[in-house]
Amino acid sequence: MDTERQTGYQLMGGAHTVRRLVEVFYPKVQADPLLAPLFPTDIEPVMEKQYLFLTQFFGGPNLYSEQFGHPMMRGRHMSVPINNERADAWLRCMNEAMIEIDIEDNLRKMLLERLRGSAYHFINTPGDH
Ligand code: HEM
Repeated sequence: MDTERQTGYQLMGGAHTVRRLVEVFYPKVQADPLLAPLFPTDIEPVMEKQYLFLTQFFGGPNLYSEQFGHPMMRGRHMSVPINNERADAWLRCMNEAMIEIDIEDNLRKMLLERLRGSAYHFINTPGDH
């Protein structure tokens, strides 16, 4: 396959790696004082949706849209008070999760860069509220 045309999803190793990433990411979210209070105790359904979404976000099959329609992720986060600090905390957990599951450095930076755009785009609350 032409490597330049491979998606992030393919480069990271497909379904197995996305699953691992989600499994390592959410315990970090639940341990983070800024993020934990925002999430339900029963994290499993969130993990499943995130698995479906990240698969599609990184260029894999459109699993999330097949089940839930157009992602409209900013809209789906409107009920969540996201400020700059929480966006940073979310990205920090994601970065740590990627390191922990050994995603190669350049690929990790590329994937994080894409997520960073979304995370800051989702900010809907000023300051540290
Ligand atoms: C910027 C900081 C972020 C915070 C604080 C945050 C927080 C949350 C919270 C509290 C939920 C709802 C959980 C529930 O009650 O069901 C959620 C759902 C979700 N988030 Fe985030 N999120 C952030 C960024 C992101 C990013 C960058 C992405 C992916 C690009 C993302 C993808 C999702 C997905 C796929 C869901 C499930 C949506 C659904 O219900 O269908 N989030 N997020």
